[in-house]
Amino acid sequence: MSAGHLPHPGDGLSAPQAVAGIGGADRESVPGFGSGGPRDGEPAPAWSGLSGRCAALDWAAIAAELDDFGCATVPGLLSAEECQRLAAAYAKSELFRSRVVMERHGFGKGEYQYFAHPLPSPIARLRGALYPPLAAIANRWYEAMGLEPRFPPGHAEFIARCHAAGQSRPTPLLLRYRAGDYNCLHQDLYGEHVFPLQAAVLLSAPGEDYTGGEFVLTEQRPRMQSRAEVVPLGRGDMVVFPVFHRPVNGARGVYRVNMRHGVSRLRSGSRHTLGIIFHDAS
Ligand SMILES: [Fe+2]
Repeated sequence: MSAGHLPHPGDGLSAPQAVAGIGGADRESVPGFGSGGPRDGEPAPAWSGLSGRCAALDWAAIAAELDDFGCATVPGLLSAEECQRLAAAYAKSELFRSRVVMERHGFGKGEYQYFAHPLPSPIARLRGALYPPLAAIANRWYEAMGLEPRFPPGHAEFIARCHAAGQSRPTPLLLRYRAGDYNCLHQDLYGEHVFPLQAAVLLSAPGEDYTGGEFVLTEQRPRMQSRAEVVPLGRGDMVVFPVFHRPVNGARGVYRVNMRHGVSRLRSGSRHTLGIIFHDAS
């Protein structure tokens, strides 16, 4: 283990060797973090029941929203404290494998960092717990689009496929925008293996921490004008959306639309987001 992976007791975000990863126990003991349940009148400890929270979401409603609008929002998936810890983790460079300054690549303005392996436990658990219900939606979509349904029920199996194809660099990331920053419309493709849905959690409070900076999706329809969707989010809310395409029911059957996402210009303050992409990068 390198010095770069020393645990940081207290935030539960950086002791991957001491805590469970994908499929691990939901209640865990992290130094300085608390392993017991909440006492009367106290909020639940950060990250407790995280996998269960994901499993307990109304996945039928999420699927219906994705089918109808191309995105679904889940209010309050993470607590204010969890959001704060994640946003603060942006400063811990040892947690990340690389940092991208968007302006240098023409991606926009602002920056993001990809988490390094092993992923911090809450990130690994979110990825592992969100994947199975999303895989069911992805397989249904692929069937509707006449593509071979190809996504196994568990994330470990899917990620093993990515790794076998040389896509082994983790893709979950934290993004940071400051006044004037924005993210151009794009698709998060990182190689041959693509899981077609992804999630983002807003970690900052709109109106308090920042203004502007709306999450935007566009849908490019064949031989028709494009459609934009601005997704209002509060701190801790998750948005689920397609990576690059999705099926739409038309009068003459199902057609495929091309999706892109981005963030409009921040007018003031700073905004942090957690991005969960389910395929790894080559
Ligand atoms: Fe993205």
